[in-house]
Order: sequence, then C-alpha cells, then structure tokens
Amino acid sequence: MPGPDVVTAVAYPNIALVKYWGKRDERLVLPCADSLSMTLDVFPTTTHVQLTPHAQDIVIVDGVTAQGEMARRITSFLDLVRKRARSKRCARVETRNTVPVGAGLASSASGFAALALAAATAYGLPTEPKELSRLARRGSGSAARSVFGGFVIWHAGSPDAPDPDRSSYAEPLTSACTDLALVAVLVDTGPKPIPSREAMRRTVATSPLFPDWLMQTRHDMTVMRRALAQGDITTVGEIAERNALGMHETMAGAVPPVRYLTPASHRVLEEVCRLRDQGVGAWATVDAGPNIKVLCSGGDAEQVAVRLRELSRRPAVVARSGPGAALYGTQR
Ligand code: DP6
Repeated sequence: MPGPDVVTAVAYPNIALVKYWGKRDERLVLPCADSLSMTLDVFPTTTHVQLTPHAQDIVIVDGVTAQGEMARRITSFLDLVRKRARSKRCARVETRNTVPVGAGLASSASGFAALALAAATAYGLPTEPKELSRLARRGSGSAARSVFGGFVIWHAGSPDAPDPDRSSYAEPLTSACTDLALVAVLVDTGPKPIPSREAMRRTVATSPLFPDWLMQTRHDMTVMRRALAQGDITTVGEIAERNALGMHETMAGAVPPVRYLTPASHRVLEEVCRLRDQGVGAWATVDAGPNIKVLCSGGDAEQVAVRLRELSRRPAVVARSGPGAALYGTQR
C-alpha cells in the first residue's frame, strides 16, 4: 500500500476527433499537425510515484514489473523529469490501467498524463496544466491532451518558434456539444500487431498518401472547431469518421502496409452505417487498433451500445466527457 510520501495521480484516456498521426520531431514528440480530442470518463489510469534511495527505478504496470520497451519509455521519461528537477533520485512507479495496455484504447495517453502529474509533483516540478501538457507530450504525444478534461486541442507548435518544444501543448476548448457520448466497442483487446509509434514512423517515411493526409487534417480541424462551437453533432461525427478512416487509408499506403482493422472491426463499421440509414446519429472513429468507438448523442448511446453488443458479441462501453488529470482526491 502506498505510504504518505507517495504521490498518486489519475488520468483518463482521450479519443481524437481529428487525429494526430505523424511527428516532425521524434525526440521532442512534436506533431506535424494540430489535433483535437474528447477526454473520456471511463478506463482511468492510476499512478503512484515514490522517490526511493535505490540505484534503479522500479516500474510496475498492472501488478507486473515492466520489461522491454515499456520499461525503457517510462525510465527515460523519469530521466527527463530528473534532469529538469536537477535530481539524481530514483523512483518507484506503480501504475494500474482499467483496459489492457497496447490495445489501441489510449492507455498511453492516460498513462503518461498520470505519470507526468505524479512525477512532476514528486520531484517538485511545476504542475501548471499547460506546462504539464508539454511534459506529458514527451512521454506520448496524445498524453498532452489527457492533462485536460472535456474537448481539447493540441497545438503542433511552430518549427520557427524560439523554443519549438514550448510551442507545442494542449489546452481545453469550449464546445456547445455538451451531450456528445462515445460507445467503445471492444472488438479485440489483445496487443496490437505493431506499436503505434513504429506504425506512425513508417507512415511518415513511406506512405505516398501522407502529404494529402496532413492537408486534409488541417482542413478537418477548421471545420471541426466550428462545428463544436456551434453544437453541430452531425458535422462533428461526419468529420471525425472521415478523418479516422483517412488515417487508416494513409497507414495502409505505408511500406509494408499497416493494418489495424480486422473483419470484426469492419462489421461494426458497417453496422454504424446501417444505424445512420435508420436515422440514428452515429459515427465511427478508430485509433491504432481494431476497436471501434462510436460517437452519438447521450440520448442515443444506450440504444447504440445494445445494437453493437448484439452484433459483435463483444462488450460496448458507454463513455461521456471526462475530467483532466488530477492528484488523488483533487480535480483539474
Ligand atoms: C491513433 O500518442 O500513442 O491514437 O506519441 O508515439 O506515443 P506516440 O503516439 P500516440 O499516438 C496516438 C495516435 C492515435 C491518434 C490520436 O490519439 O490522435
């Protein structure tokens, strides 16, 4: 059980309505374009950080000592925090997710947002949200957005800025779409065939569709912001679906192709079209995995979940807009 000098933070995943897919700087995790998301109220990650006298970091994820790439990413994130805090102390990190890690359910977003807040607090770094967002970004790009609740925009920043690292951060966006809900259909929660970081790199380097994807994303961002401000759920859903499917087409153009969607994902996507044909406002979005998330109004969410559960024979979880990263017992 955590002792009194343990800092505990909780953060929720976010689902992008206009996706981040492509970095212009791998080391600083600077994206090629702005992206926009909704933070969810389901699947939180809880992270405890405690400074220790040991010579090595101890990292436990879901009850198991982290190995390989996951351990390396968390330790190098702690190295960044230590460098900024001018500290040499190692830490014990214990983190718990409520969905399987690496299944395309945004566990890296909630994970690094919670770790950024807990580690920054434990090492005495500033935890002002914009600053925290910049820090979380260095762990995983999408984590920059999970620092905030509700609708969030992540600014790509400018390569010409005096400090490009500081120019890229997320911030909350006011929206009139207060009733937007999301139904997450857990088609397959096993680990994905290729980590999203590698898939993103390969897409940027080899997909001939990538420049068009970027241009379309910048346009989608403008239309999405206007639709959110006006409370136009139909346009929000249409743009989100087109943007997500465009991202998957762009990945499929990579060499070798990146394919996350399975036959079961396609069956859910078809059912979402059928729901629309029957007059239900429902639109799909998909991240780096086979799981389908369906945007709809809060009033339609249960009906949509029931239909998709019946079809897929898989769990479908209803989510609404959730809070930003918070220290245990506080709200951001
Ligand atoms: C498809 O944030 O996991 O979910 O920065 O390399 O850690 P890294 O990538 P990550 O990528 C998320 C991609 C996405 C789209 C999105 O969330 O915008």
